[in-house]
Amino acid sequence: MDFAIEPPERADRERGGAGRGGTNGRRGAPLYQQIAEQIRDAVRRRELVSGARLPAIRDLAARLQVHRDTVGLAYESLASEGWVETRVGRGTFVSGPVSSAPIDPPLSPLVSRLLDHSESRTPHAVPSDTIAFHALVPDPDLFPVDAFRRSLNDALATGGADLLGYADGGEAGLREVIAAHLAQHGIAAEPDAVVTCQGASQGLSLVARAFAAPGDAIAVEEPTYQAALGILIGVGLRPEPVPTHAAGDEPGVDLEALERVLAQPSVKAFYTMPTFHNPLGITTGREHRRRLLAIAAAAGKPIVEDACAIDLRFRGRSVPPLAALDDSGLVLPLFSFSKSLFPGVRCGAVLARGRSLEALRALKRATDLGDARTLQAAVASFVRSGHYRRHLQQWRRTLAVRCDAMLEALQEHLPRDLRWVAPEGGYQIWVELPRDLDAREVHAAALRAGVLIAPGDQFHVAGRRARGFRLVYAQSDPEEIREGIVRLAGVIDQLRTASVAAKGRAVNVGGTHG
Ligand SMILES: Cc1ncc(COP(=O)(O)O)c(C=O)c1O
Repeated sequence: MDFAIEPPERADRERGGAGRGGTNGRRGAPLYQQIAEQIRDAVRRRELVSGARLPAIRDLAARLQVHRDTVGLAYESLASEGWVETRVGRGTFVSGPVSSAPIDPPLSPLVSRLLDHSESRTPHAVPSDTIAFHALVPDPDLFPVDAFRRSLNDALATGGADLLGYADGGEAGLREVIAAHLAQHGIAAEPDAVVTCQGASQGLSLVARAFAAPGDAIAVEEPTYQAALGILIGVGLRPEPVPTHAAGDEPGVDLEALERVLAQPSVKAFYTMPTFHNPLGITTGREHRRRLLAIAAAAGKPIVEDACAIDLRFRGRSVPPLAALDDSGLVLPLFSFSKSLFPGVRCGAVLARGRSLEALRALKRATDLGDARTLQAAVASFVRSGHYRRHLQQWRRTLAVRCDAMLEALQEHLPRDLRWVAPEGGYQIWVELPRDLDAREVHAAALRAGVLIAPGDQFHVAGRRARGFRLVYAQSDPEEIREGIVRLAGVIDQLRTASVAAKGRAVNVGGTHG
């Protein structure tokens, strides 16, 4: 790469008054600085562009009649300021003009697909006075902050400095607590079979990567938990939707469709929420679970059972999780404290055995070397001291009261041709719309009326339409819930009146044309 550069002027020449007054940078400055300044100028003038290779030190030193170390020093100082970078064995290259506009480097196709997916979702800008039925998060007013602070202090007092180091596989105390807790739900596992992770979300990403390579597919219920779609797309996988119904003879995933999907070689596993499904709110029966297990076993495909809501039953009889009914070893349950306690501790776990367990441990280590032990130990202490049990009792009572308030309000105010199923636990109710109502239009109109709902499309693979919406009752008190449903009913009424009026106009217009 050629560019204009003059030999630097030595101070002694300056002193002798023989200076040429050239353009070689700050005259009188040390030689290497004069060289560096001329190179900066050449970059600013775009004579040297990003990626251009500077002359070898030896060549430039010969050309400028200076010692090689002087050129070496000039290059070093440019590198320390970020103007150039030295690639070992290859030379020194211009990094890019510092004053130019920021460069937007090309993204990987994988992350571009994730961005497309995120942009296709409904944004959640929530005005402050909005009634929030849209987000599946617990009510922060009920977070047991004081009790958790005591658990944090206990954990640090007991664990000391050891807690501030790494723990391969996760904090032992938390793994014991989770194994014992899941045993109460009929899931038998040793603490060693528990891989702790950053919430169930990370568990899903680890399991997906354990069984599928970029380009493969993971079968998902449709509708499904919307972040699961992003998680799968983010690791280069294709979510393969399987129709799932809230009502009918057999609520849950369509088992015949599942059998067909799992038979596809590119489909490597099935992600499912049999208990308090998100967004449908339903829980499948024991017989449905047995048949699902038989289908997965016949296909030899693992099942990722999202059991994040299993602690949230507030009425009815519990149904054993798939992991408790399974004897094939194909079910990997995901557990998390996010919905039953709070999400900010990011405490989750996935259970596995054999090679799958080794793979998950290796993936977790390769991802982040483990979770925050201090928080894990605090959660373990919180559970051991009985706070978790007490918090759950109170939280389930609150959820039951809020759920009933919403069901009563729906019954009283919504038109008869809208359908929903009363949940026995969890946070949400799915409302199925008749054909004349569009979930996205209801969402937009409800937002204008100060109510936020989650339109069904966001639980579908991009571009596939849904005929319902999800309402979360976890975040609002009964009064607010009633107010929200009254507004929602008003919105639906207005949409219908407007659509009847529009049809009437269309008929009239048609009439005038003959
Ligand atoms: C079904 C389901 N699974 C997992 C999660 C995420 O849980 P975590 O915070 O443990 O990553 C959510 C959060 O809404 C969820 O609804």
